[in-house]
Amino acid sequence: MKLLIIGSGGREHAIAHCLRRDAPDATIHAAPGNPGMLDTAELIEIPAEDIGALLDFAVDRRIDLTVVGPEAPLASGIVDRFQQAGLPIFGPDRAGARLEASKAFAKQLMRNCGVPTADYETFDDAREAMDYVAGHAEPLVIKASGLAAGKGAIVCETRDEARTAIEEMMIGGKFGTAGARVVVEEFMHGVELSVFFVADGERAVPLLTSRDYKRVGEGDCGLNTGGMGAYAPAAPADPAFIDDVRRRIAQPVLDAMGEAGAPYRGFLYAGLMLTAEGPRVVEFNCRMGDPETQVVLPLTSSNLLEPMLRVARGESLAGWHPEAAAGAALVTVMASAGYPASSDAGRPIRIPAFDPDRVRVFHAGTAMEGGRLVTAGGRVLGVVGLAGTLEEAGRRSREAVAEIRFDGAHSRSDIGWHALEPGRLGPAGSALIGPPGAAAL
Ligand code: AMP
Ligand code: GLY
Repeated sequence: MKLLIIGSGGREHAIAHCLRRDAPDATIHAAPGNPGMLDTAELIEIPAEDIGALLDFAVDRRIDLTVVGPEAPLASGIVDRFQQAGLPIFGPDRAGARLEASKAFAKQLMRNCGVPTADYETFDDAREAMDYVAGHAEPLVIKASGLAAGKGAIVCETRDEARTAIEEMMIGGKFGTAGARVVVEEFMHGVELSVFFVADGERAVPLLTSRDYKRVGEGDCGLNTGGMGAYAPAAPADPAFIDDVRRRIAQPVLDAMGEAGAPYRGFLYAGLMLTAEGPRVVEFNCRMGDPETQVVLPLTSSNLLEPMLRVARGESLAGWHPEAAAGAALVTVMASAGYPASSDAGRPIRIPAFDPDRVRVFHAGTAMEGGRLVTAGGRVLGVVGLAGTLEEAGRRSREAVAEIRFDGAHSRSDIGWHALEPGRLGPAGSALIGPPGAAAL
Protein backbone atom coordinates (compact mmCIF):
# COMPACT_ATOMS: atom_id res chain seq x y z
CA MET A 1 0.00 0.00 0.00
CA LYS A 2 1.31 3.46 -0.94
CA LEU A 3 0.01 6.51 0.85
CA LEU A 4 0.56 10.22 0.27
CA ILE A 5 -0.08 12.88 2.91
CA ILE A 6 -0.26 16.48 1.74
CA GLY A 7 0.81 19.23 4.12
CA SER A 8 3.62 20.03 6.51
CA GLY A 9 2.22 20.85 9.95
CA GLY A 10 1.61 19.14 13.27
CA ARG A 11 -1.75 17.95 11.95
CA GLU A 12 -0.06 16.11 9.08
CA HIS A 13 2.57 14.64 11.41
CA ALA A 14 -0.24 13.29 13.62
CA ILE A 15 -2.07 11.91 10.55
CA ALA A 16 1.17 10.19 9.45
CA HIS A 17 1.47 8.50 12.87
CA CYS A 18 -2.10 7.32 12.66
CA LEU A 19 -1.70 5.89 9.15
CA ARG A 20 1.56 4.19 10.12
CA ARG A 21 -0.23 2.52 13.02
CA ASP A 22 -3.01 1.36 10.68
CA ALA A 23 -0.69 0.23 7.89
CA PRO A 24 2.65 -0.84 9.39
CA ASP A 25 3.95 -2.04 6.01
CA ALA A 26 2.77 0.86 3.87
CA THR A 27 5.07 3.23 2.05
CA ILE A 28 4.07 6.67 3.30
CA HIS A 29 5.08 9.82 1.42
CA ALA A 30 4.56 13.34 2.71
CA ALA A 31 4.56 16.40 0.45
CA PRO A 32 6.28 18.51 1.52
CA GLY A 33 6.09 17.13 5.08
CA ASN A 34 8.51 18.15 7.81
CA PRO A 35 11.62 16.58 9.37
CA GLY A 36 9.59 15.14 12.26
CA MET A 37 7.66 13.04 9.77
CA LEU A 38 10.84 11.23 8.77
CA ASP A 39 9.98 8.87 11.64
CA THR A 40 7.11 7.52 9.52
CA ALA A 41 7.32 8.90 6.01
CA GLU A 42 9.50 9.75 3.06
CA LEU A 43 9.49 13.48 2.29
CA ILE A 44 8.75 14.68 -1.23
CA GLU A 45 9.77 18.24 -2.09
CA ILE A 46 6.49 19.36 -3.62
CA PRO A 47 4.53 22.23 -2.05
CA ALA A 48 0.98 21.44 -0.89
CA GLU A 49 -0.40 23.98 -3.39
CA ASP A 50 1.32 22.54 -6.48
CA ILE A 51 -1.55 20.32 -7.56
CA GLY A 52 -0.10 19.51 -10.98
CA ALA A 53 3.18 18.21 -9.54
CA LEU A 54 1.36 16.30 -6.76
CA LEU A 55 -0.88 14.64 -9.34
CA ASP A 56 2.09 13.67 -11.52
CA PHE A 57 3.81 12.17 -8.48
CA ALA A 58 0.72 10.22 -7.40
CA VAL A 59 0.13 8.85 -10.92
CA ASP A 60 3.77 7.95 -11.33
CA ARG A 61 3.97 6.13 -7.97
CA ARG A 62 0.47 4.63 -8.23
CA ILE A 63 -0.54 6.03 -4.85
CA ASP A 64 -3.40 4.03 -3.30
CA LEU A 65 -4.66 6.85 -1.10
CA THR A 66 -3.87 10.56 -0.82
CA VAL A 67 -4.92 12.37 2.36
CA VAL A 68 -5.07 16.16 2.22
CA GLY A 69 -4.31 18.04 5.46
CA PRO A 70 -4.71 21.80 4.75
CA GLU A 71 -7.59 23.74 3.24
CA ALA A 72 -5.78 25.61 0.44
CA PRO A 73 -5.33 22.66 -1.95
CA LEU A 74 -8.87 21.46 -1.17
CA ALA A 75 -10.29 24.88 -2.03
CA SER A 76 -8.22 24.87 -5.25
CA GLY A 77 -9.81 21.58 -6.31
CA ILE A 78 -7.08 19.00 -5.69
CA VAL A 79 -9.72 16.35 -5.03
CA ASP A 80 -11.50 17.05 -8.32
CA ARG A 81 -8.21 16.73 -10.23
CA PHE A 82 -7.21 13.46 -8.54
CA GLN A 83 -10.69 12.01 -9.04
CA GLN A 84 -10.63 12.91 -12.74
CA ALA A 85 -7.38 10.96 -12.96
CA GLY A 86 -8.99 8.00 -11.14
CA LEU A 87 -6.81 8.31 -8.02
CA PRO A 88 -8.35 7.68 -4.58
CA ILE A 89 -8.11 10.82 -2.46
CA PHE A 90 -9.63 11.69 0.91
CA GLY A 91 -11.08 15.18 1.30
CA PRO A 92 -13.94 17.28 -0.06
CA ASP A 93 -13.95 18.46 -3.66
CA ARG A 94 -13.85 22.14 -4.55
CA ALA A 95 -17.63 22.48 -4.14
CA GLY A 96 -17.48 20.95 -0.66
CA ALA A 97 -14.47 23.01 0.39
CA ARG A 98 -16.60 26.13 -0.08
CA LEU A 99 -17.96 25.42 3.39
CA GLU A 100 -14.64 26.85 4.57
CA ALA A 101 -13.44 28.86 1.57
CA SER A 102 -16.57 31.02 1.43
CA LYS A 103 -18.09 32.09 4.72
CA ALA A 104 -20.89 33.74 2.72
CA PHE A 105 -21.70 30.35 1.17
CA ALA A 106 -21.51 28.50 4.51
CA LYS A 107 -23.74 31.04 6.26
CA GLN A 108 -26.32 30.98 3.47
CA LEU A 109 -26.38 27.17 3.56
CA MET A 110 -26.85 27.18 7.35
CA ARG A 111 -29.64 29.73 7.07
CA ASN A 112 -31.34 27.69 4.34
CA CYS A 113 -31.28 24.46 6.31
CA GLY A 114 -31.92 25.87 9.77
CA VAL A 115 -28.54 25.09 11.32
CA PRO A 116 -28.10 27.22 14.47
CA THR A 117 -25.46 29.91 13.93
CA ALA A 118 -24.92 33.62 14.57
CA ASP A 119 -27.31 35.98 12.80
CA TYR A 120 -25.51 37.72 9.89
CA GLU A 121 -25.57 39.67 6.67
CA THR A 122 -23.15 39.49 3.73
CA PHE A 123 -21.83 42.56 1.89
CA ASP A 124 -19.90 43.28 -1.31
CA ASP A 125 -20.14 47.02 -0.79
CA ALA A 126 -18.30 48.79 2.04
CA ARG A 127 -20.88 51.61 2.33
CA GLU A 128 -23.74 49.14 2.76
CA ALA A 129 -21.75 47.18 5.34
CA MET A 130 -21.09 50.43 7.29
CA ASP A 131 -24.78 51.36 7.20
CA TYR A 132 -25.73 47.93 8.50
CA VAL A 133 -23.14 48.15 11.29
CA ALA A 134 -24.60 51.52 12.39
CA GLY A 135 -27.74 49.72 13.56
CA HIS A 136 -26.01 46.61 14.94
CA ALA A 137 -25.63 45.68 18.60
CA GLU A 138 -22.15 45.54 20.18
CA PRO A 139 -19.98 43.51 20.29
CA LEU A 140 -20.05 42.20 16.73
CA VAL A 141 -17.84 40.20 14.40
CA ILE A 142 -16.51 41.16 10.97
CA LYS A 143 -15.30 38.30 8.79
CA ALA A 144 -13.53 38.18 5.46
CA SER A 145 -15.60 35.72 3.44
CA GLY A 146 -12.65 34.01 1.76
CA LEU A 147 -9.65 32.07 3.07
CA ALA A 148 -7.43 34.27 5.24
CA ALA A 149 -5.19 31.73 6.98
CA GLY A 150 -7.36 31.76 10.10
CA LYS A 151 -6.96 35.52 10.56
CA GLY A 152 -10.07 36.74 8.75
CA ALA A 153 -12.43 36.98 11.75
CA ILE A 154 -12.26 40.19 13.78
CA VAL A 155 -14.20 40.30 17.04
CA CYS A 156 -15.11 43.98 17.55
CA GLU A 157 -16.13 45.40 20.90
CA THR A 158 -17.59 48.51 19.30
CA ARG A 159 -19.21 49.62 16.04
CA ASP A 160 -16.19 51.91 15.52
CA GLU A 161 -13.84 48.93 15.59
CA ALA A 162 -16.18 47.15 13.19
CA ARG A 163 -16.06 50.11 10.77
CA THR A 164 -12.26 50.04 10.90
CA ALA A 165 -12.23 46.30 10.22
CA ILE A 166 -14.57 46.76 7.23
CA GLU A 167 -12.44 49.58 5.89
CA GLU A 168 -9.24 47.55 6.21
CA MET A 169 -10.76 44.55 4.46
CA MET A 170 -12.97 46.07 1.79
CA ILE A 171 -11.05 49.25 0.97
CA GLY A 172 -7.54 48.60 2.27
CA GLY A 173 -7.42 45.09 0.78
CA LYS A 174 -6.07 43.59 4.00
CA PHE A 175 -6.86 40.00 3.03
CA GLY A 176 -6.73 40.53 -0.73
CA THR A 177 -9.71 39.12 -2.60
CA ALA A 178 -10.69 37.08 0.48
CA GLY A 179 -11.81 40.33 2.16
CA ALA A 180 -13.64 41.87 -0.82
CA ARG A 181 -16.82 40.28 0.53
CA VAL A 182 -17.48 40.46 4.27
CA VAL A 183 -19.88 38.83 6.66
CA VAL A 184 -21.12 40.99 9.56
CA GLU A 185 -22.10 38.69 12.37
CA GLU A 186 -23.77 38.72 15.76
CA PHE A 187 -21.35 38.02 18.63
CA MET A 188 -22.14 34.77 20.43
CA HIS A 189 -21.38 34.39 24.12
CA GLY A 190 -20.13 31.06 25.36
CA VAL A 191 -17.36 28.52 25.31
CA GLU A 192 -16.03 27.05 22.07
CA LEU A 193 -15.85 23.39 21.15
CA SER A 194 -14.47 21.62 18.08
CA VAL A 195 -16.21 18.52 16.73
CA PHE A 196 -14.74 16.68 13.74
CA PHE A 197 -16.77 14.35 11.57
CA VAL A 198 -15.77 11.87 8.91
CA ALA A 199 -18.33 12.26 6.12
CA ASP A 200 -19.09 9.87 3.26
CA GLY A 201 -21.40 12.14 1.30
CA GLU A 202 -24.50 11.00 3.19
CA ARG A 203 -23.63 10.45 6.79
CA ALA A 204 -21.32 12.11 9.28
CA VAL A 205 -19.49 10.06 11.90
CA PRO A 206 -18.13 12.05 14.85
CA LEU A 207 -14.64 11.76 16.35
CA LEU A 208 -13.70 12.95 19.86
CA THR A 209 -14.52 16.49 20.91
CA SER A 210 -11.66 18.93 21.51
CA ARG A 211 -11.03 22.56 22.42
CA ASP A 212 -8.28 24.75 21.05
CA TYR A 213 -6.70 27.94 22.36
CA LYS A 214 -6.29 30.55 19.66
CA ARG A 215 -4.92 33.54 21.59
CA VAL A 216 -1.17 33.81 21.95
CA GLY A 217 -1.12 34.71 25.65
CA GLU A 218 -2.01 33.19 29.01
CA GLY A 219 -5.59 33.75 30.06
CA ASP A 220 -6.66 33.98 26.41
CA CYS A 221 -5.05 37.37 25.92
CA GLY A 222 -3.29 38.89 22.95
CA LEU A 223 -3.37 38.23 19.24
CA ASN A 224 -5.14 35.36 17.51
CA THR A 225 -2.87 32.57 16.28
CA GLY A 226 -3.37 29.36 14.34
CA GLY A 227 -3.73 27.69 17.76
CA MET A 228 -1.44 27.56 20.81
CA GLY A 229 -2.72 24.31 22.26
CA ALA A 230 -5.69 22.00 22.60
CA TYR A 231 -7.09 19.15 24.64
CA ALA A 232 -9.39 16.19 24.13
CA PRO A 233 -11.89 15.01 25.01
CA ALA A 234 -13.54 18.35 25.83
CA ALA A 235 -16.85 18.50 27.66
CA PRO A 236 -19.63 18.02 26.82
CA ALA A 237 -18.43 14.80 25.24
CA ASP A 238 -21.37 12.57 26.10
CA PRO A 239 -22.96 10.54 23.28
CA ALA A 240 -26.34 12.30 23.57
CA PHE A 241 -24.79 15.75 23.10
CA ILE A 242 -22.59 14.60 20.19
CA ASP A 243 -25.54 12.94 18.51
CA ASP A 244 -27.56 16.11 18.87
CA VAL A 245 -24.75 18.05 17.15
CA ARG A 246 -24.62 15.43 14.42
CA ARG A 247 -28.38 15.54 13.83
CA ARG A 248 -28.93 19.29 14.06
CA ILE A 249 -25.67 20.58 12.59
CA ALA A 250 -23.71 18.10 10.46
CA GLN A 251 -26.56 16.10 8.91
CA PRO A 252 -28.57 19.06 7.52
CA VAL A 253 -25.39 20.37 5.87
CA LEU A 254 -24.63 16.98 4.29
CA ASP A 255 -28.24 16.65 3.14
CA ALA A 256 -28.16 20.12 1.57
CA MET A 257 -24.83 19.48 -0.17
CA GLY A 258 -26.12 16.14 -1.47
CA GLU A 259 -29.33 17.70 -2.76
CA ALA A 260 -27.25 20.36 -4.54
CA GLY A 261 -25.39 17.58 -6.36
CA ALA A 262 -22.18 18.08 -4.38
CA PRO A 263 -22.04 15.25 -1.81
CA TYR A 264 -19.57 16.18 0.92
CA ARG A 265 -16.83 13.61 1.56
CA GLY A 266 -13.89 14.03 3.92
CA PHE A 267 -13.37 15.59 7.32
CA LEU A 268 -15.94 18.16 8.37
CA TYR A 269 -14.87 20.45 11.21
CA ALA A 270 -17.68 22.06 13.15
CA GLY A 271 -16.43 24.95 15.28
CA LEU A 272 -19.18 25.46 17.85
CA MET A 273 -20.09 28.04 20.45
CA LEU A 274 -21.86 26.51 23.44
CA THR A 275 -24.40 29.23 24.12
CA ALA A 276 -27.26 29.49 26.57
CA GLU A 277 -29.55 28.46 23.66
CA GLY A 278 -27.44 25.40 22.86
CA PRO A 279 -24.58 24.76 20.43
CA ARG A 280 -24.35 27.17 17.49
CA VAL A 281 -21.87 27.10 14.62
CA VAL A 282 -18.98 29.58 14.63
CA GLU A 283 -17.50 28.15 11.44
CA PHE A 284 -17.13 25.05 9.33
CA ASN A 285 -13.75 23.91 8.08
CA CYS A 286 -13.23 21.37 5.32
CA ARG A 287 -10.37 19.59 7.12
CA MET A 288 -9.19 18.62 10.58
CA GLY A 289 -8.11 21.41 12.93
CA ASP A 290 -4.55 22.05 13.97
CA PRO A 291 -3.53 21.60 16.81
CA GLU A 292 -6.73 19.69 17.69
CA THR A 293 -5.77 16.77 15.41
CA GLN A 294 -2.67 16.27 17.56
CA VAL A 295 -4.86 15.36 20.54
CA VAL A 296 -7.84 13.75 18.76
CA LEU A 297 -5.94 11.21 16.66
CA PRO A 298 -3.65 9.78 19.38
CA LEU A 299 -6.82 9.01 21.38
CA THR A 300 -8.68 7.49 18.41
CA SER A 301 -8.08 3.79 18.85
CA SER A 302 -10.02 2.62 15.80
CA ASN A 303 -8.38 2.10 12.46
CA LEU A 304 -8.80 5.32 10.43
CA LEU A 305 -7.18 4.20 7.18
CA GLU A 306 -9.97 1.80 6.32
CA PRO A 307 -12.80 4.38 6.56
CA MET A 308 -10.66 6.91 4.67
CA LEU A 309 -10.19 4.39 1.86
CA ARG A 310 -13.92 3.71 1.82
CA VAL A 311 -14.76 7.41 1.53
CA ALA A 312 -12.09 8.00 -1.12
CA ARG A 313 -13.61 5.16 -3.19
CA GLY A 314 -17.08 6.65 -2.84
CA GLU A 315 -18.23 3.87 -0.51
CA SER A 316 -20.40 4.18 2.57
CA LEU A 317 -19.31 4.50 6.20
CA ALA A 318 -22.41 2.59 7.35
CA GLY A 319 -21.53 0.44 10.34
CA TRP A 320 -18.34 2.31 11.20
CA HIS A 321 -18.23 3.45 14.82
CA PRO A 322 -14.83 4.82 15.81
CA GLU A 323 -13.64 4.08 19.30
CA ALA A 324 -11.56 6.29 21.57
CA ALA A 325 -9.00 5.23 24.12
CA ALA A 326 -9.79 6.06 27.73
CA GLY A 327 -7.89 9.01 29.13
CA ALA A 328 -6.98 12.41 27.78
CA ALA A 329 -4.50 14.26 25.61
CA LEU A 330 -3.27 17.83 25.86
CA VAL A 331 -0.98 19.60 23.40
CA THR A 332 1.09 22.68 24.13
CA VAL A 333 2.38 24.48 21.07
CA MET A 334 5.92 25.85 21.23
CA ALA A 335 6.18 28.93 19.01
CA SER A 336 9.16 30.92 17.81
CA ALA A 337 10.02 34.45 18.94
CA GLY A 338 7.67 37.11 17.60
CA TYR A 339 4.83 34.73 16.67
CA PRO A 340 2.14 35.50 15.56
CA ALA A 341 3.15 39.02 14.49
CA SER A 342 6.33 37.74 12.88
CA SER A 343 8.30 34.53 12.90
CA ASP A 344 11.87 33.59 13.47
CA ALA A 345 13.89 30.81 11.82
CA GLY A 346 17.17 28.94 11.92
CA ARG A 347 17.33 28.40 15.72
CA PRO A 348 18.73 24.99 16.64
CA ILE A 349 16.20 22.77 18.45
CA ARG A 350 17.05 20.19 21.11
CA ILE A 351 14.43 17.54 21.84
CA PRO A 352 15.24 14.78 24.37
CA ALA A 353 13.82 11.28 23.92
CA PHE A 354 10.36 10.80 25.46
CA ASP A 355 8.29 7.71 26.20
CA PRO A 356 5.74 7.76 23.31
CA ASP A 357 3.04 6.36 25.59
CA ARG A 358 3.31 9.56 27.64
CA VAL A 359 4.66 12.30 25.38
CA ARG A 360 4.62 12.80 21.62
CA VAL A 361 6.27 15.69 19.87
CA PHE A 362 4.71 16.61 16.54
CA HIS A 363 6.69 18.92 14.28
CA ALA A 364 5.26 21.94 12.45
CA GLY A 365 7.74 24.74 11.66
CA THR A 366 10.99 22.77 11.64
CA ALA A 367 13.69 22.17 9.03
CA MET A 368 17.03 20.42 8.68
CA GLU A 369 19.97 22.74 8.13
CA GLY A 370 23.46 21.31 7.80
CA GLY A 371 22.34 18.12 9.55
CA ARG A 372 20.78 20.04 12.45
CA LEU A 373 17.12 20.43 13.35
CA VAL A 374 16.22 24.14 13.36
CA THR A 375 13.13 26.31 13.64
CA ALA A 376 11.43 27.28 10.37
CA GLY A 377 8.17 29.00 11.19
CA GLY A 378 5.82 30.42 13.80
CA ARG A 379 4.40 27.30 15.35
CA VAL A 380 7.43 25.03 15.74
CA LEU A 381 6.35 21.98 17.76
CA GLY A 382 3.23 20.47 19.30
CA VAL A 383 4.10 18.76 22.57
CA VAL A 384 1.38 16.24 23.43
CA GLY A 385 0.91 14.76 26.90
CA LEU A 386 -1.08 11.51 27.10
CA ALA A 387 -2.43 10.15 30.37
CA GLY A 388 -5.39 8.65 32.18
CA THR A 389 -6.54 12.09 33.30
CA LEU A 390 -6.43 15.52 31.68
CA GLU A 391 -4.57 16.88 34.68
CA GLU A 392 -1.77 14.37 34.24
CA ALA A 393 -1.74 14.81 30.45
CA GLY A 394 -1.30 18.56 30.99
CA ARG A 395 1.51 18.00 33.47
CA ARG A 396 3.32 15.67 31.06
CA SER A 397 2.96 18.18 28.24
CA ARG A 398 4.27 21.09 30.32
CA GLU A 399 7.16 19.07 31.75
CA ALA A 400 8.20 17.98 28.28
CA VAL A 401 8.01 21.58 27.02
CA ALA A 402 10.42 22.57 29.80
CA GLU A 403 12.94 20.01 28.52
CA ILE A 404 12.81 21.13 24.88
CA ARG A 405 15.06 24.02 23.93
CA PHE A 406 15.33 26.58 21.17
CA ASP A 407 16.08 30.30 21.34
CA GLY A 408 13.01 32.50 21.70
CA ALA A 409 10.59 29.62 22.38
CA HIS A 410 7.29 30.63 23.93
CA SER A 411 4.23 28.64 24.90
CA ARG A 412 1.16 28.85 27.12
CA SER A 413 1.12 27.06 30.45
CA ASP A 414 -2.67 27.31 30.85
CA ILE A 415 -3.87 25.12 27.98
CA GLY A 416 -6.90 23.20 29.20
CA TRP A 417 -7.95 25.78 31.78
CA HIS A 418 -11.63 25.38 30.89
CA ALA A 419 -11.47 21.88 32.34
CA LEU A 420 -8.59 22.20 34.81
CA GLU A 421 -9.54 25.53 36.42
CA PRO A 422 -13.32 25.67 36.13
CA GLY A 423 -13.31 28.43 38.75
CA ARG A 424 -12.33 30.73 35.92
CA LEU A 425 -15.72 30.11 34.33
CA GLY A 426 -18.69 32.30 35.12
CA PRO A 427 -22.12 31.04 36.18
CA ALA A 428 -23.45 30.62 32.64
CA GLY A 429 -20.27 28.87 31.55
CA SER A 430 -18.94 32.10 30.08
CA ALA A 431 -15.28 32.84 30.55
CA LEU A 432 -14.53 35.63 32.99
CA ILE A 433 -11.28 36.51 31.34
CA GLY A 434 -10.59 37.76 27.89
CA PRO A 435 -8.41 39.90 25.68
CA PRO A 436 -7.32 43.30 27.03
CA GLY A 437 -10.17 45.77 26.87
CA ALA A 438 -12.72 43.08 26.11
CA ALA A 439 -15.83 42.49 28.12
CA ALA A 440 -16.25 39.03 29.60
CA LEU A 441 -16.23 36.64 26.67
P1 AMP B 1 -13.46 31.87 12.64
O1 AMP B 1 -12.33 32.21 11.72
O2 AMP B 1 -14.80 32.09 12.05
O3 AMP B 1 -13.30 30.53 13.28
O4 AMP B 1 -13.30 32.84 13.89
C1 AMP B 1 -12.13 32.85 14.67
C2 AMP B 1 -12.47 33.02 16.12
O5 AMP B 1 -13.18 34.24 16.32
C3 AMP B 1 -13.39 31.94 16.64
O6 AMP B 1 -12.71 30.80 17.05
C4 AMP B 1 -14.04 32.67 17.80
O7 AMP B 1 -13.19 32.69 18.93
C5 AMP B 1 -14.18 34.07 17.30
N1 AMP B 1 -15.52 34.26 16.69
C6 AMP B 1 -15.82 34.15 15.38
N2 AMP B 1 -17.14 34.38 15.17
C7 AMP B 1 -17.68 34.63 16.37
C8 AMP B 1 -19.00 34.97 16.83
N3 AMP B 1 -20.02 35.10 15.99
N4 AMP B 1 -19.17 35.17 18.15
C9 AMP B 1 -18.15 35.06 19.01
N5 AMP B 1 -16.89 34.77 18.66
C10 AMP B 1 -16.64 34.56 17.35
N1 GLY C 1 -7.29 25.20 15.33
C1 GLY C 1 -8.16 25.86 14.45
C2 GLY C 1 -8.07 25.48 13.04
O1 GLY C 1 -7.40 24.54 12.66
O2 GLY C 1 -8.70 26.14 12.22
